[in-house]
Amino acid sequence: MAEIDFGGTLENVVTSEEFSLEKAQEILRKETVVVLGYGVQGPGQALNLRDNGIQVIVGQREGTASWDKAKADGFVPGETLVSIEEAARKGTIIQFLLSDAGQVALWPKVKACLNAGDALFFSHGFGVVYKDQTGIVPPADVDVILVAPKGSGRTVRTNFLDGSGINSSFAVFQDATGRARERTLAMGIAIGSGYLFPTTFEKEVYSDLTGERGVLMGCLAGVMEAQYQTLRKNGHSPSEAFNETVEELTQSLIRLVAENGMDWMFANCSTTAQRGALDWAPKFRDAVMPVFETLYKSVVTGEETRRTLDLNSAPDYRERLQEELDAIKNSEMWRAGTAVRSLRPERRGK
Ligand SMILES: NC(=O)c1ccc[n+]([C@@H]2O[C@H](COP(=O)([O-])OP(=O)(O)OC[C@H]3O[C@@H](n4cnc5c(N)ncnc54)[C@H](OP(=O)(O)O)[C@@H]3O)[C@@H](O)[C@H]2O)c1
Repeated sequence: MAEIDFGGTLENVVTSEEFSLEKAQEILRKETVVVLGYGVQGPGQALNLRDNGIQVIVGQREGTASWDKAKADGFVPGETLVSIEEAARKGTIIQFLLSDAGQVALWPKVKACLNAGDALFFSHGFGVVYKDQTGIVPPADVDVILVAPKGSGRTVRTNFLDGSGINSSFAVFQDATGRARERTLAMGIAIGSGYLFPTTFEKEVYSDLTGERGVLMGCLAGVMEAQYQTLRKNGHSPSEAFNETVEELTQSLIRLVAENGMDWMFANCSTTAQRGALDWAPKFRDAVMPVFETLYKSVVTGEETRRTLDLNSAPDYRERLQEELDAIKNSEMWRAGTAVRSLRPERRGK
């Protein structure tokens, strides 16, 4: 563990310097690693593990697009690509990477396949923490561990291929074998994490549900829409409104934040922009603080989970989701975005 000062608070984190890939390979050589589910996180983690020299078996229901994708990615039906139950029976480290609603549906079958001493691996605290709603209560004789990449499965893979990584949190919920921690860290390193920071299942799920509903996705989409509509109502063209709301952020300013922080971005904008941003940031913070407080409560009480499970377990969930996504895609703002993106020099004429 390396002790790092995060803005005045010391935290112990793990990188491949403290826990090398060779050590992870050594630990995982004795295991059979299976990945249940080949949706978004499944492919990212399975392919990184395989490229890091770990033998991986994918468990996925047959006759689906996800099965075909696993096949196209080189997993061999009957050998390294099998049914969910067969994989769960074979595995000693079982990565439960079905969608959270899928985990609830499949839990009785997966539970029946677990053997004493197995490690049940999650990338989200959801199933275990909200057990009253999910029914996921692992048997006492298995390790229950978590590595949660703080990014989409897609970037878990692309960052790995670029030679960087996605930071992940890690936790041990249950240590039945005395090896839970080393298994967790070995998996965290082998899936290509940038650095690993400790958490608990509960803290992981509370922060994750808040983050994605908040700044990362929900709040971001909401404030973008509010600004775009304000500009449009006041007679600005779609091109102008979109550039001032999204394109400048994604193509310029957020990259400066990623590079060196918010102050660096401010320092590299005009003095007029800096003054305005410094004056208005506290007003936005105060305006949304009550929304964040309501959100966090809704996460902790399990209301967000209830809604997620109810809606995502409905048989027509994919169709209804597509309708909602299409409504965004077909809105003026995001159609304007399609036009703006097509004008990027690297995309012109393609
Ligand atoms: N998405 C991310 O980037 C991300 C980031 C961090 C953590 N996580 C966590 O990682 C885990 C996996 O999430 P994900 O987003 O990768 O899930 P996802 O893309 O929604 O994965 C869907 C997978 O679950 C299978 N599945 C769903 N319902 C099923 C059912 N009833 N029976 C059998 N299979 C079923 C799907 O099979 P079919 O294709 O056959 O439907 C597919 O293989 C979750 O715990 C999530 O919270 C995800």
